[in-house]
Amino acid sequence: MNILLTGASKGLGLKTTESLLNKGWKVYAISRSKTENLNELLLQYPDNLKWLQYDLADGENIRQTVFKDWISFDTPIHGFVNNAALAYDDIITNLNLVSLEKMYRLNVFAPMILTKFVLRQMLLHNIKGSIVHISSISVHTGYKGLAMYASTKGALEAFSKNTAREWGEKGIRSNCLVAGFMETEMSSTLSDSQKNRIYQRTSMKQPVDVESVAETIGFLLSDGAKSITGQNIHVDNGTI
Ligand SMILES: NC(=O)c1ccc[n+]([C@@H]2O[C@H](COP(=O)([O-])OP(=O)(O)OC[C@H]3O[C@@H](n4cnc5c(N)ncnc54)[C@H](OP(=O)(O)O)[C@@H]3O)[C@@H](O)[C@H]2O)c1
Repeated sequence: MNILLTGASKGLGLKTTESLLNKGWKVYAISRSKTENLNELLLQYPDNLKWLQYDLADGENIRQTVFKDWISFDTPIHGFVNNAALAYDDIITNLNLVSLEKMYRLNVFAPMILTKFVLRQMLLHNIKGSIVHISSISVHTGYKGLAMYASTKGALEAFSKNTAREWGEKGIRSNCLVAGFMETEMSSTLSDSQKNRIYQRTSMKQPVDVESVAETIGFLLSDGAKSITGQNIHVDNGTI
């Protein structure tokens, strides 16, 4: 299986890349930086891990750089994990259009453009592929300061459901993995008391295990999930 995954250099993307490689799958990974951990994986899996340094804020060049120059249209793509994102968090009364546009370019527009070419490639090779977008529990349970970020993930959830409806007849699936709070760089700016308040809203009163999220992504990409599409799958320690 060939999987395209964005945001592989750290956090959930790195853990998911490792987990997919352990299954013997080939990963085409994108990020702006090559971290030490990613470099270790590249050395460990020289044949199965391919990495492209690319800033996904540049939507215009995705077709040429990602699909023509790097993966090439001859390569079948079986799965796409849309993981790269940034969180511009602030209260709405401080909304800054430049920051908002930057976040939408990465969190919403790049995933839509990537989906366009992933779908074309799946159709070209007659592949019943699987798309997984990483969404956030903030879409379903409001958090003060996350309205703008949550709105990008809400857009993805709508896009994913409609992708499932549009391409289901070809056997192509699209789901969102709704992640709860994980201890990664993205969440590292929060204070202990802010984190504790977030944990208190979950049934399990603790951060979500990144490996549990990565394993669920692997399942959604696999044949075992062949009847699951158009869904939001929550991995959130029971935020109910
Ligand atoms: N952490 C949480 O609590 C939480 C909760 C719910 C959902 N999520 C979602 O889970 C996903 C992973 O988050 P995380 O916590 O692992 O975040 P993270 O640690 O900040 O990692 C983000 C990844 O995205 C990449 N990235 C950022 N900007 C990019 C750009 N312009 N072009 C290409 N790659 C870019 C980063 O690589 P480079 O910096 O090297 O480019 C990095 O690999 C995101 O979709 C996030 O919204 C996170």
